[in-house]
Amino acid sequence: MLSSLRKVAFLLLFLITIDSGANAASSNVELIKQNWPFNGIFGRFDKASLQRGFKVYSEVCAACHGIRHISYRDLEGIGYSPDEIKVIAAEYEITDGPNDEGDMFTREAKMSDKFVEPYENETIARLSNNGSYPPDLSLIVKARAGGADYIYSLLNGYKDFPENFEASEGMYYNEFYPGYQIAMPSPIMDEIVEFDDGTEATHLQIARDVTSFLAWTAEPELEVRKSLGVKTIFFLVLLTIMLLGVKRKVWKHLE
Ligand code: HEC
Repeated sequence: MLSSLRKVAFLLLFLITIDSGANAASSNVELIKQNWPFNGIFGRFDKASLQRGFKVYSEVCAACHGIRHISYRDLEGIGYSPDEIKVIAAEYEITDGPNDEGDMFTREAKMSDKFVEPYENETIARLSNNGSYPPDLSLIVKARAGGADYIYSLLNGYKDFPENFEASEGMYYNEFYPGYQIAMPSPIMDEIVEFDDGTEATHLQIARDVTSFLAWTAEPELEVRKSLGVKTIFFLVLLTIMLLGVKRKVWKHLE
């Protein structure tokens, strides 16, 4: 019985320590690795960091990037009350309609609306960004190899062009971007936002918080999924121990 228990304990330990190794970096430069609270099987979001990250998104990134898969009411998931969300949504204008006269009209966004897109269409977005399209960020953490570490590295990867680099007009050098030239200027710097909770808004802190926020937009139900996984594993371990006991009892007379 003891050796069987040991096997179960080993299995459990193995399951807890495995990490998804599938997220390999796409550029040659090794990504800046962070210890994210939402990684691992007990992963949880840090709500204070998500709220700071939302502030960075809405004051900086939202000028060029949408998060079209997220509704205003989803913000309840990062700790805002319905009343606070109504105030946040009311700052945005949405085109709705047609009304009884057949005309489109604008109105304040409601909780049930998806986040308002920064540009009317892709052509206008490209015209404003040197021909490049700022991708929607709601799923970007899932869409890029390296996930959160890649986004964090990208935000910290701006450098001057190396000598002899054939730089194209209006592009910026980023050592983590495939091909090294990116059309997005470095979007953050120290103190570009002021955090309501008094956290010092350093470049690194801003990069970390906005990356956490984007990890949340990519999978708002992560905590539910992980806690269900943990419960399932414990249930299976318990069941295994009970079945081992039953097996021993049934086969006892043959030993
Ligand atoms: C002035 C407009 C602008 C702002 C502000 C901006 N971006 Fe971008 N972003 C772009 C453009 C344009 C691209 C496309 C780059 C390209 O194709 O070379 C881009 C691309 C990206 C990408 C995709 C990189 C990839 O691997 O394809 C990420 C991630 C990103 N931005 C994150 C952010 C974050 C986070 C913020 C806010 C802190 C932000 N951006 C603010 C214009 C902007």
